[in-house]
Amino acid sequence: STSRNYSIATIPADGIGPEVISAGVCVLEKLSSLSGTFSLSFHSYDWSSETYKKTGAYIPHDGLDKLKQHDAILFGAVGAPDVPDHISLWGLRLSICQPLQQYANVRPTKIFRGTSSPLRNVSPGDLDWVIIRENSEGEYAGQGGRSHRGQLWETATEVAVFTRHAIERIMRFAFETAKKRGRGKGGKGKLTVVTKSNAQRNGMVLWDEVAVEVGKEFPGVEVDKMLVDAMTCRMVLDPKSIDTIVATNLHADILSDLAASLAGSIGIAPTSNLDPTRANPSMFEPIHGSAFDITGKGVANPVATFWTAAEMLTWLGEEEGAARLMEAVENVTESGVCTRDLGGKAGTKEVTEAVCSELEKLF
Ligand code: NAI
Ligand code: MG
Repeated sequence: STSRNYSIATIPADGIGPEVISAGVCVLEKLSSLSGTFSLSFHSYDWSSETYKKTGAYIPHDGLDKLKQHDAILFGAVGAPDVPDHISLWGLRLSICQPLQQYANVRPTKIFRGTSSPLRNVSPGDLDWVIIRENSEGEYAGQGGRSHRGQLWETATEVAVFTRHAIERIMRFAFETAKKRGRGKGGKGKLTVVTKSNAQRNGMVLWDEVAVEVGKEFPGVEVDKMLVDAMTCRMVLDPKSIDTIVATNLHADILSDLAASLAGSIGIAPTSNLDPTRANPSMFEPIHGSAFDITGKGVANPVATFWTAAEMLTWLGEEEGAARLMEAVENVTESGVCTRDLGGKAGTKEVTEAVCSELEKLF
């Protein structure tokens, strides 16, 4: 008997988005039917760059109200060759994250069994991180402007905005995450606060100060501070020394692509856009984009979406289902059924089928 029902909005959108989202839905349906303890109902929204080209908008006027009726949102990727990227990103993804106050962007990275890091002498277990990205303001606050268009003295500003309110809530979330992971000294958690507070002396200095203040609420959690440029070196040279990272919208965006690549491929990494207050549904998406170069070829790695689906289940309270799904995915990567980005020969469909049959063995 099914006791728990969740309503999931899917927004496959562009490029390989529809391919990986349908793989994700397939695996989730398999998992929920095998578990018998929860069920999922999916509602797909066809908002994409095609919709934008036809109607002039990515999201219809009542779109956000519709999303608010669901328990979670599963998002593919947005971006098309014939629409400027700033139009597509702001038109769809940021138009959901920002009004729904999904202020905590969570990006775990690890090396799966059977896959390898491009770093020498780094094996599964040596690289197991979670990056917490401030997702509501900073460099992506949307402040700025352009004047004197087309003139030699054309001017543009992109203003980074940092508020005590937003820094405080992301810090608290980051310390809680580090504490829950419990991987510092004495099992109390370890957090690296990343800034650029040598060169940027206002917003980034406030960021450092608030980190110290919030840190007082988490005695025992080991904290260290890194400048973002030095952090890239540490990620490459000493991955074992890192556990939880908190950084601004821009810095964490860049660090997390590096993290995903160091773990083997951008095709495995997930992202959660969380509203930790749970006033609004949270949104879950693979970290990668719409990948025009492989769209329609059936070779997109669906693993990022499977891990994303597991993160979504965890957020909904279905930790056991999430753990089974991750177990199935890692058993499959270990067995060598992988897409090309991981050095294998399988297509999206074979990997999806392999995960479904692995799930059957786990129940
Ligand atoms: P991308 O992530 O789409 O692709 C980068 C490279 O990784 C490509 O070579 C691609 O083939 C490969 N790749 C990505 N996902 C893969 C997967 N699942 N399996 C195997 N290989 C995979 O980034 P790119 O090329 O910079 O951007 C393409 C479009 O996607 C742009 O319009 C960009 O704005 C958009 N984008 C959207 C994001 C989102 O919706 N959250 C995030 C990043 C980019
Ligand atoms: Mg990115």
